[in-house]
Amino acid sequence: MARKGNKTGEWARRHMNDPWVKKAVSQGYRSRAVYKFQEIDETDKLVKPGMVVVDLGSAPGGWSQYISRKFGSKVTVIAIDLLEMDYLEHVHFVKGDFQDESVLNQIDAILQDRKIDLVISDMAPNITGVRSSDEALYEGLLDSVLYFCEQRLKPNSHLLVKLFEGSAAHYFRREVKKQYKSGVVRKPAASRPKSREFYFLAKSRLVK
Ligand SMILES: C[S@@+](CC[C@H](N)C(=O)[O-])C[C@H]1O[C@@H](n2cnc3c(N)ncnc32)[C@H](O)[C@@H]1O
Repeated sequence: MARKGNKTGEWARRHMNDPWVKKAVSQGYRSRAVYKFQEIDETDKLVKPGMVVVDLGSAPGGWSQYISRKFGSKVTVIAIDLLEMDYLEHVHFVKGDFQDESVLNQIDAILQDRKIDLVISDMAPNITGVRSSDEALYEGLLDSVLYFCEQRLKPNSHLLVKLFEGSAAHYFRREVKKQYKSGVVRKPAASRPKSREFYFLAKSRLVK
């Protein structure tokens, strides 16, 4: 137990001293994750006025908040998370698992007959600690993201996904090659260098 306490203390100390956390607090952002998306958006010019953007795994809401601040009502954001998320102007929030039918129905009701211009996902699977089962669970989650895009993302539109180095990420990148014109890896400055996390931008969904 004591060890767990020390680890929590270490995490809290590291968190409080993190320059990205300090920057997020000073700029009124909900999470340090906002700077990962901001860097990728500025590099790849992802979000544009008139778009419908779906933010999968949105809470506490940094990415949606960034889009809402930058574009206001010019961009429709649909944010989905298992956890509750505080209200954000110009953002439709749906609570639940994006794989559940009831959640998909709510997303479709907001979309009406529109298709999505950009899907962004900062989701991470719940890990059990057993590497092989974690990779299998993660592969399932990534498959659901691809299927979601197949159903609702406009052809020639992009998908940005957080990945963790490993077999599920390899699987995902192989699938992207079949379904998208190209893909690029992004490792923004706010993503901890030691972390296995990176981002993958699948560009231009192909029409089958
Ligand atoms: C790293 S956080 C996202 C941070 C967010 N991008 C921000 O800027 O504040 C990942 C989120 O994904 C959510 N998540 C994981 N699996 C999910 C699923 N199947 N459906 C919906 N949300 C999910 C988690 O609840 C968690 O809040």
